[in-house]
Amino acid sequence: MDGEINRPMEETRKHILDTLDKAQEILTLPSVIQKVLEITSSRNSSVSELKDIIESDPALTTRILSVANSAYYGFVRKVSTVSHAVVVLGFEEIKNIVLSMSVLRLFDRKGSVFVENLWRHSLAVAVATRMVASHLGLKLEGKYFVGGLLHDIGKIFLYQYMPEVYRVLLKEMLSQDNNYTYHRLEALICGISHEEIGGRLLNSWGFPIDITDAVKYHHRPGLALKDKVFTVCIHIADILCSIKGITPLKDHFFLPVDRDILDVLYSLKENFATDDMIHLLERLDLEIERHSSFVTMFR
Ligand SMILES: [Fe+2]
Ligand SMILES: [Fe+2]
Repeated sequence: MDGEINRPMEETRKHILDTLDKAQEILTLPSVIQKVLEITSSRNSSVSELKDIIESDPALTTRILSVANSAYYGFVRKVSTVSHAVVVLGFEEIKNIVLSMSVLRLFDRKGSVFVENLWRHSLAVAVATRMVASHLGLKLEGKYFVGGLLHDIGKIFLYQYMPEVYRVLLKEMLSQDNNYTYHRLEALICGISHEEIGGRLLNSWGFPIDITDAVKYHHRPGLALKDKVFTVCIHIADILCSIKGITPLKDHFFLPVDRDILDVLYSLKENFATDDMIHLLERLDLEIERHSSFVTMFR
């Protein structure tokens, strides 16, 4: 590394954490979304309370109805009212959908090849996480999609809020003679990982702890405290997308597999092996295509 960054790593870490604190004050969710969060997080709330607050915002109403009617959920009957959507989706699902859509709107989604590829990667990992969960026989919940979608939000933050630091990292990553992995460079240049930043951000927005934890440990699922299986699903989804080249940087180093996932994998599917990975890799394009209209709603 050529020392373009003069600040010692510890100082850069502190600078990033200070920027994160300041950004959290700006990156606030609209009041209607905060109200939805409040209602969906309280045990005493009723369907009609949630319906009223959603209906007070026409754009939110349209989004909820489009989501409820998407092939992703595959409900046989058309969902034509907000009350019906709340009943069939449930409070937790509405909370996850509304939160992730709103959070994504807080960041720039266009502007450079890197950012566009990062969004493409995030959406692909969202679909892949759900696919992996289904392959492992898990009950499908919205959190699989949401966790996959937001797993790299720390990179989006670094790109947008720490451009001078992140530009050095990207330049180094793309240089011919770079021998470091992305993660090593992130540690050397930023002194903090995108997973840690992502976890802090999601925590500040009030995401459920299992999602925050899975994002925080998506590269080391063995350390996840809340839902290891969920974290393993994101980890595998990330690897699948990396092998397929659906990555922001066309990394020349594939993501390392965390060996700690094996116990979790075998406890769910005793003979999980190469064939499973090949099957998942083959299915991924089809799944991305199948869920393209649902995915577009999060763009
Ligand atoms: Fe990541
Ligand atoms: Fe990723």
